[in-house]
Amino acid sequence: MAVAETIEFDLALIDELIAREEAALEPKHRASIEYRTVAEQHVAGGVASSWQSSPPHAVFIDRGEGSRIWDIDGNEYVDYHLGYGAMVTGHAHPAIVEAIERRARLGTHFAQPTTQLHEIGENLSDRFGLPLWRFCNSGTEATLEAVRLMRANTGRDLIVKIEGTYHGHHDSLMFSVVPDPEEIGPREHPATIPQAMGIPAAFAELVRVVPFNDLAEAERAFTENEGLVAGMIVEPAMMNCGVVMPQPGYLQGLLELCHRHGAYLAFDEVKTGATIAYGGAVEAFGVRPDIVCLAKAFGGGTPCGAIGATEELFGPVLRGDHDIAGTFNGNPLTMAAARATMLEVLTPDAYAHLNAIDRRLKVGLGAVIDRYRLPAYVSGIGAKGSVIYSPTEVREYRDAIAIDERVTYLAWLVQQNRGVFKSPWSKQETWTLSVAHSDDDAQRYIDNVEAFAAAVTS
Ligand SMILES: Cc1ncc(COP(=O)(O)O)c(C=O)c1O
Repeated sequence: MAVAETIEFDLALIDELIAREEAALEPKHRASIEYRTVAEQHVAGGVASSWQSSPPHAVFIDRGEGSRIWDIDGNEYVDYHLGYGAMVTGHAHPAIVEAIERRARLGTHFAQPTTQLHEIGENLSDRFGLPLWRFCNSGTEATLEAVRLMRANTGRDLIVKIEGTYHGHHDSLMFSVVPDPEEIGPREHPATIPQAMGIPAAFAELVRVVPFNDLAEAERAFTENEGLVAGMIVEPAMMNCGVVMPQPGYLQGLLELCHRHGAYLAFDEVKTGATIAYGGAVEAFGVRPDIVCLAKAFGGGTPCGAIGATEELFGPVLRGDHDIAGTFNGNPLTMAAARATMLEVLTPDAYAHLNAIDRRLKVGLGAVIDRYRLPAYVSGIGAKGSVIYSPTEVREYRDAIAIDERVTYLAWLVQQNRGVFKSPWSKQETWTLSVAHSDDDAQRYIDNVEAFAAAVTS
């Protein structure tokens, strides 16, 4: 937790440091900046996904190996971005390369089932304790299918979601992801704010937003809407404001609450599954929900998604009353990569390694925070962690609003200028570790936070 007596950030100094770091970064990324002007002639904004163009400029990547990536200017980084947390295997892991190569030679797509399904399903059941699985192509698809299953099984429409969490870009859940503090409304009735243009206002009527880590507020949402709630979706540890852990008893309380009101609980484990423990949040927090959504790390770097649930929830699918379908669902290339990832690379031993690096980061970063009396603390579990620049614990989105984005942007720039690639800057400051990350990689991260600390206290 935060140290007792902390400094206050001098925001004028931080502005100066940002200008200095941006000026130092620009010449290192000439090729990226120039390539973007070529790409943007026929690709909107010159990037494939809007979040690839975060300030100060998009960085185009050439290749990756293990814990390292190289951009097209030739700069080398220790990769803590890891493709938004997908590459827990490290880049170009030989077992995954071999699985993909082997599969590619046999044909990459048939839209017919192939015979790796059972091994992957069995592995996921073992990890997450849910008996049945289906596969899709992204986290967005996984949470979309979860919402459909909860609605299909209850005949109800209302979904409860947490303020400040992201579940993908479909219209059922893309509300109040990073809502404007001016618009969020009272904590006991947060406004349901669309996160993108083009989401019909009518969809907001179907989503009730509640703060994380507050059972009483979740209960209020259910009792005020008795008989209307199909289910609740929750990221069991929030990963959008740094790593925000669930308070003891919170997740179990949500499960009981949902069941008391005839509704279901879905864990969005797109970020936590296969990263924070062998059995994701189900294992780490000891609560088994009705549905688990997976993506990212599950596919070893291929487009992937999976949804696990009880037999009861899959009932409409098993009876043929409801379809979970898609041309690329269970694509053989993805299945080959997922099989190698889950059965050969992310074994229980892998988590022992991730935990060891996590411990090293926590100790090293904690010492820097104490030495420089930063208003900050470290939060992490398994492959996921963050320095949270708040003097008090962040337990929900509203606690994180007070963190000045200039502080986290500077922290990102300092890392980027000194050979550490983090997810494009935001309040989240979340890192992902891979099985290839070493003690030296951890030390580079710690040294950079020390450089940040020395600069902001100079
Ligand atoms: C918790 C969570 N759920 C769902 C998604 C959506 O996943 P995808 O980008 O694969 O659609 C994300 C993406 O970052 C996520 O973090």
